Order: sequence, then C-alpha cells, then structure tokens
Amino acid sequence: MKLKGKVAIVTGSTSGMGRATAELFAREGAKVVVTGRNEERAKEVVDKIKSEGNEAIYVIADMSDMDEVKKIFDTTIETYGTVDILFNNAGMLSLTPLMELSFEEWNKAFAVNVTAAFYLAQLCAPIMREKGKGVIINTSSVAGAHAHHGPAAYVTTKHALNGLTKSMAWELGPEIRANAILPGAILTAMLNSVGGEAGVPHLIEGSPLKRAGKPEEIASAALFLASDDSSFITGQLIRVDGGIDI
Ligand SMILES: NC(=O)c1ccc[n+]([C@@H]2O[C@H](COP(=O)([O-])OP(=O)(O)OC[C@H]3O[C@@H](n4cnc5c(N)ncnc54)[C@H](OP(=O)(O)O)[C@@H]3O)[C@@H](O)[C@H]2O)c1
Repeated sequence: MKLKGKVAIVTGSTSGMGRATAELFAREGAKVVVTGRNEERAKEVVDKIKSEGNEAIYVIADMSDMDEVKKIFDTTIETYGTVDILFNNAGMLSLTPLMELSFEEWNKAFAVNVTAAFYLAQLCAPIMREKGKGVIINTSSVAGAHAHHGPAAYVTTKHALNGLTKSMAWELGPEIRANAILPGAILTAMLNSVGGEAGVPHLIEGSPLKRAGKPEEIASAALFLASDDSSFITGQLIRVDGGIDI
C-alpha cells in the first residue's frame, strides 16, 4: 500500500475525478476526508470506502466560503489529528465569455478555483512542515495551459492555480512537494454539463488517443504524485490529457 497511515484531504470528492481519487487513496491505506456541497453524494462515497474496509469521513463545505473551507481543515485535525496529503481538486466551470462576465462570477471562480486552494495549503503547511513531509496536488486543466480550451474566468483561474502550484513548491519546500495535474476531457459530471465528448470535439480529435479520459486515469496520476514514487518531483504541471496540444 502506497499511502499507509497517511491522512488525505481530497476536495471535490463527491463525484468525478475527486471521488475516484478518494476511493483509490483509501484503498492504498489513507484515511480520507471527502468534501463537497452535496451531502447525499458525500455520504455515498464514504459508505463505499467503508464498505471496502477502509477509512473516510466527509465534510460539507462550499469552497467559495472561506469559513466553510476552514471547517475542512478543522474537522480533519479534530478527527485524525494530522494531515499528510492535500488534493485541491474542487473546481468551478465558468462558461461566460469575457465580455459578459460579472464581477460576481469572476470573483466566485477565483474563490473556488484559486483562493480555497491557497487557504487550505496555508492551513495544512505548518503541520506538514513540522512532520518534515507533506504533499499538495492541485487540479488545474488544459485550459490552464492554453486560452483556446475555455472561457476567460476558467482559463485565468487555472493559469493562476499553475502559478500558485509553483509558488507552493518554491516556498513550502523542502518539506512539502507541490504539483498540479492538468486534465484534458475527462468523463465526469462537469464534462456532461458541456455535452460530454461530443461537446468538446477539439479535445478528442485534437489528441492522438482520440478519446476522453476516465476519472480513474486522473486518480492514478494523483496517487503517483501523492506517494514516494514521485519523491523528486515538485513544482510541475503534469498533463493527463491524451496528448492534446503536442
Ligand atoms: N472533467 C473535465 O473534463 C475536466 C478537465 C479539466 C479540469 N477539470 C477539473 O477537474 C476538477 C474536478 O472536476 P470533475 O471533472 O471531476 O467534475 P465533477 O464530477 O463535477 O466534480 C466536481 C467536484 O467539485 C465539487 N465542487 C464544485 N464546486 C464546488 C463548490 N463551490 N464548493 C464545494 N465543492 C465544489 C463538487 O462537489 P458538490 O457538487 O458536492 O458541491 C464535485 O465533488 C475541477 O477542478 C475541474 O475544473 C475537469
């Protein structure tokens, strides 16, 4: 088991790639903190993890509200006493074109996609540093690499998250490693909200693998980054996208 005895927070794990990662981390021996806004799905994920003989709790929190974000950290420490792995995966897709964006939508995208990740890292880092070891993983996007993969607020926040990932690696090392995963089209509720594979033909036809990825294919990349298998890798933006833009 690659994460035996570790405590892992996985935000946005009530569905999609976060859920697949929470289940995989638990199977690899981690105690997992599942988060999202939907309590029914959060409970379902925790029940599934427990039914496999593994350990998890859930915390209901809206990532646009920093008091609720702090609740994730507080509950983790109250329950498990420590934290070893922080996977900032929750994300909000903003589809509004630049010229029609309101301050409200712009600010919410920054809160959910960037500020929550910054704040959780700031809360968790002192504990990881004291232990001499910790891992942070952020879910960015191919839209964090190229503007033509999404509208302005999504593209901008994912680019910002890439910068934040490098700052985390630089400022929180040597104890903490921080990396980002840049998924391409992945078969989740978020992709369904834009019409599934058919809604993103450029991401399918524009990749040599000619298909969308599965949430489990992000989870296995996250496991690699969370475990000692990637012990000399930090500050990297790792694309898991079937080869788009090569
Ligand atoms: N699917 C893709 O093609 C794709 C591609 C590139 C990057 N991504 C990124 O991958 C990450 C995961 O998305 P996914 O594709 O797995 O989508 P998903 O299945 O829709 O999952 C999104 C998760 O984020 C949570 N979430 C969203 N907004 C939240 C908020 N305001 N507060 C708390 N939790 C919130 C959702 O929880 P609740 O619904 O319970 O609130 C859910 O658990 C996101 O950061 C996304 O930007 C996705």
